Amino acid sequence: MSSRVVVLISGAGSNAAALLDAAAEPGFGASVVAVGADRHSADGLALARHAGVETFTVPFADYDDRGDWNAALSERLDAYRPDLVVSAGFMRILGAEVLERHTVINIHPALLPAFPGAHAVRDALAYGVRITGATVHLVDSGVDTGPVIDQAAVRVEPDDDTASLHERIKSVERRMLVEVVGRLAREGWSVQGRQVRLGGPRQSPSTEYVAEENR
Ligand code: GRF
Repeated sequence: MSSRVVVLISGAGSNAAALLDAAAEPGFGASVVAVGADRHSADGLALARHAGVETFTVPFADYDDRGDWNAALSERLDAYRPDLVVSAGFMRILGAEVLERHTVINIHPALLPAFPGAHAVRDALAYGVRITGATVHLVDSGVDTGPVIDQAAVRVEPDDDTASLHERIKSVERRMLVEVVGRLAREGWSVQGRQVRLGGPRQSPSTEYVAEENR
């Protein structure tokens, strides 16, 4: 039986779109049952509707209290009975109201624990690193602190600005997110401390996600 996945977005939703495409293939092992956002203006909602997937919005701006917003989001998620919630460009910190009821993974545009937070690409460039990348991790109560599921490296080019670097990171993110969600759905997972193990034999490091231009 296919795993039920809900994807949460705040913006363009290119990661969500990649998951929608992958999940449409037979054998992927997961179905995206809904795409949700924290704002009506999230462009990715239209992509999901176009793909025939249900959408919902729990606008952060409608709630005075962060706890109330989290409780409303959690209740909304409950309705879809998700096996997995994927935060794919969802720019909100999730509280216990959500995390105690749902398994959530997040995609982050840096090699955590370096450069957590909302400006990871800008911060990596400003620091002057030569290699950055993307991380898929389980979400815990901290900001980008949960156990790492997978990572992939992206080289910083001398003439990169935030936009060009972010674009290359996003192309790596899309492939990695699709691969991780598919494997979590098909193989299951276990967590011991900070170690996340997928059900099947452990994969070799993530060279398959490395952007063509970085090979
Ligand atoms: C991605 O880089 C993700 O890692 C970050 O926000 C971006 C979202 O892009 N948190 P999109 O909305 O999936 O196009």
